[in-house]
Amino acid sequence: MWGKRADVIVRTEAPFNAEPPPTLLAANEITPVEAFYARNHGLFPDIAPGQWRLDVGGLVDTPMTLTLDRLTTGFDHHTVVATLACAGNRRAELLRARPIPGKDPWEHGAISTAAWCGVRLADVLDAAGVYRRDGLHVEFLAPDIAAEARPAQAYGSSIPLEKAMSHEVLLAWQMNGQPLPRAHGGPVRAVVPGYIGARSVKWITAVTVRDHPSHNYFQEVDYRILPPDADPDTAAVGDGIPLSRLPLNCDILAPTGGDRIGAGEVVLRGWAMAGDGQGIGRVDVSIDGGHTWRQAQLHTARSKWAWSLWSLSVDVVPGPLSITARAWDDTGMTQPESPASLWNPRGYGNNAYSRVDVRVM
Ligand code: MTE
Repeated sequence: MWGKRADVIVRTEAPFNAEPPPTLLAANEITPVEAFYARNHGLFPDIAPGQWRLDVGGLVDTPMTLTLDRLTTGFDHHTVVATLACAGNRRAELLRARPIPGKDPWEHGAISTAAWCGVRLADVLDAAGVYRRDGLHVEFLAPDIAAEARPAQAYGSSIPLEKAMSHEVLLAWQMNGQPLPRAHGGPVRAVVPGYIGARSVKWITAVTVRDHPSHNYFQEVDYRILPPDADPDTAAVGDGIPLSRLPLNCDILAPTGGDRIGAGEVVLRGWAMAGDGQGIGRVDVSIDGGHTWRQAQLHTARSKWAWSLWSLSVDVVPGPLSITARAWDDTGMTQPESPASLWNPRGYGNNAYSRVDVRVM
């Protein structure tokens, strides 16, 4: 479906939501397009490259409408290797603490890494004569309608102008050297490295500079950490903490929970990433429930905006085996210990220690 491999786990067909098996993520620094996770709130718009237009307006001197031709020929091209992670990744572990009705139980795979090629949003905003004041925000809008929003509306989001002007934020039309597929926002999407995936708006058709964050449902209501006792169905506009920068996080990708593995040497694999471009200091792994820890080997990240894959070879004996991993960033911060302590009504932002239980035969 939509060019994905047969072994991706489809959460919903329409809108299309799917995650790759964790071992496939672990095997590739750059996720193949046919395995890259897909997270959608509506049906895919079908925009022919020749029909695509981008309106750039709001607090700018010269509003413009760009065609794909003008975007690709009028500005310098840049490639950024960046990991996209959905705020709902690892929700399944929160669900084990308490139910979260109506939300997909993403396991380990609502995260993937690609080489994105496009132009810097900053260059486009500069060409439009963007106002340079503190406190401005850049809103992205797309044509896909999200029925779950209240009221139903087209998908949108915003990021602070300061982030929008940074070098890593792209308007991208290529993914891993291929034209951006329709499933991932083709012809053109925003790519906002270091922020939750929700801000990387696909099929982008408008960029508007405003003196407030977007009033779109996915900025003002959803993608927020509500207090544990809040009712998401009655939460008011502006309730909760809006998510933007990704927190320090890591996960175990191989083996997978419930696996049966052979005794002897086994290579444990996973990823780690620090918040908004920060570096990873270390990844610790325990196979005795956190009594003792060993340091995993960190593989060099492809960029400041990409995950670091890690691995560790351990010897295991028959019986139940519980594997725990935790990352530290280069400021000495580590992750919270338990997913239960992070439970929130919409199930976002799980960055607790990662734990996988397997049986050694
Ligand atoms: N953009 C539009 N227009 N519509 C969407 O539903 N989903 C967002 C974001 N951009 C979405 C969107 C979310 S929640 C995520 S996590 C990422 O796209 C996922 O990008 P992907 O499907 O390319 O992996």
